[in-house]
Amino acid sequence: MPGRWRVPKRVAIFVSGGGSNMRALVEDMVGDHAARPAVVVSNNADAGGIAWAKGQGIATEVVDHRPFGKDRPAFEAALNTALAPHTPDILCLAGFMRVLTAGFVTPWAGRMLNIHPSLLPKYKGLHTHARALEAGDTEHGCTVHLVTPALDDGPILGQARIAVHAFDTPDTLAARVLVQEHRLYPAVLRRFASGETRPLML
Ligand code: GRF
Repeated sequence: MPGRWRVPKRVAIFVSGGGSNMRALVEDMVGDHAARPAVVVSNNADAGGIAWAKGQGIATEVVDHRPFGKDRPAFEAALNTALAPHTPDILCLAGFMRVLTAGFVTPWAGRMLNIHPSLLPKYKGLHTHARALEAGDTEHGCTVHLVTPALDDGPILGQARIAVHAFDTPDTLAARVLVQEHRLYPAVLRRFASGETRPLML
């Protein structure tokens, strides 16, 4: 098998909360996967994802955004300092709730992924489930895309869809979409790490 003996790519995963997508990614990075988790980074020391990653023996870094106030470049410089010793090849945003500026994103062009809970290009930003309901959509879902400086933009690497039912609320949609996120993100990262960037449609 070509490439079988390559050194695995090193993945940094950014989380702000529970980190269920991060867990799904980490749990998939075993066996013949072309990547391995290198570090989990959070802006929130209390993020459940940080505790879980520590328990798995994965390196963690916390960079609290609050002391930096509105100075995003200074926060991002601190993120880069925290990342540097872990020498990541790929950066996965997984529920990381801080907007990153072009100064941070541009050097990662083509190597930074994000998961977003809508069928992009619909519903960039927040409250995606409520917006899909308000629009009367019959179908909803999630998207993994390459990160570019524009929010929730960038080439689509994969999407998973669910049907919207008459009884749905933003919470029921969020719960069903999250199940799909946990299928989609690992599947896309697995392909991406081995060089495949054609969109995966689940
Ligand atoms: C997910 O819905 C993700 O799409 C969004 O934030 C949520 C994070 O959940 N960006 P988790 O921290 O991965 O559990």
